[in-house]
Amino acid sequence: MKVELPVAFSQLESRIKSQVFVRAVLSGRRRNMQTEYERIDIKPVLIKEEIKWQIVSSDGKKDITKNVEADFNFNQLFSSGFANLLVDTQDESYQVRISKKDEALVAINKVKLSRDLAHDRQKQRMLPESNQVFKALDMSDLLGRIKPSKMDKYKQVDEFLRLISQTLDSDLSKQDEVSVVDLGCGHAYLTFAVQEFLSDKYQKVSILGVDERQDSKEHNEKVAKKLNTSAQFIAAKIADTPNQKVDIAIALHACDTATDDALFWAVKNDAKVIMAAPCCMHELQTQIKETPEPWGLLTKYGLVKERLVDLMTDSLRAQILKLLGYRVDIVEFIGGEHTARNILIRAVKTGAAVNDLDKKRYEQMLGDWQITPYLAKLLKSELKAAAQIDTL
Ligand SMILES: C[S@@+](CC[C@H](N)C(=O)[O-])C[C@H]1O[C@@H](n2cnc3c(N)ncnc32)[C@H](O)[C@@H]1O
Repeated sequence: MKVELPVAFSQLESRIKSQVFVRAVLSGRRRNMQTEYERIDIKPVLIKEEIKWQIVSSDGKKDITKNVEADFNFNQLFSSGFANLLVDTQDESYQVRISKKDEALVAINKVKLSRDLAHDRQKQRMLPESNQVFKALDMSDLLGRIKPSKMDKYKQVDEFLRLISQTLDSDLSKQDEVSVVDLGCGHAYLTFAVQEFLSDKYQKVSILGVDERQDSKEHNEKVAKKLNTSAQFIAAKIADTPNQKVDIAIALHACDTATDDALFWAVKNDAKVIMAAPCCMHELQTQIKETPEPWGLLTKYGLVKERLVDLMTDSLRAQILKLLGYRVDIVEFIGGEHTARNILIRAVKTGAAVNDLDKKRYEQMLGDWQITPYLAKLLKSELKAAAQIDTL
């Protein structure tokens, strides 16, 4: 239905100020108009027993939140250049699209929504949902909201960026340029998000995504073109990735020993920071024939044995990196309710000397369990040179 613009604005305003107002979203651009923000979200909040309107303005990189009172001039926001204006009340969704001819095309739909007046700010996201990257990756809808089916991926990427960000501040803050290699990048959700996030912090960001699948490369190159970015992609095995300078090597859920290939490549190329979230692991499971006592108490239960050996695999990966001069921590990068694969190994090169106790524990564990981690085989000569460890 077509209506006059002032009529549509006044309908929007009366809904926003009503007692059944749930939320509003302003997005898109009108022809020949610029907006200061990419998107504005408005919701009612209860602060000290009084209703206020929380306005979150996003420029695609960060959000600015302010709370306003009933006398706020919402009309000014409606006429500030946005093309799509949506106001949801508890029972009706009132959507206005402003056409190229400046006509208001109105659609009204019945809905059933509840009002949430909590004013606790939503968790501050590292990249807002409306960021162009998520649009190009087809993770968000026309209004710049992450699609429900992509929400887990968005949260995973967000958490990864949060963990990278902590490391940048402490370990990579003194450089203008940064190079990143994403090993086993798949459809490059993380790759593009990392590039976008870092481009705000460094003058130049070089990024390479590696995946053995040719269709991933083709998909990712199309997205790079849409975004007009310099991200490069190659279809190759991680182990065959050409050597190159790298500051940050990342590997998110590269399958089984592909994580070891990624860690090996990162060490060989002297990566300053390594962030790897391992995936399914089978290699060590098959090596364990006999359990040293008293650990039989745990390995007699199949499920517990599997988890124990997964943890051993990651602890040994971390220990190997430590013996090679990395400062390492293992963190949970997303709650277990989203995925069971929720461990992230974060390593920062410090060149610290080998600690005798670290070496002793590592050798004893391999001896007692009669195992040789795949990563140790790959890094045999590095372990010998750095810690005089003989890998079988
Ligand atoms: C579970 S997906 C994860 C994709 C991406 N990192 C993410 O988290 O969205 C694992 C990806 O690693 C790739 N991959 C597995 N083993 C590989 C190897 N040895 N060399 C290159 N790519 C590999 C697969 O093709 C797949 O795209």
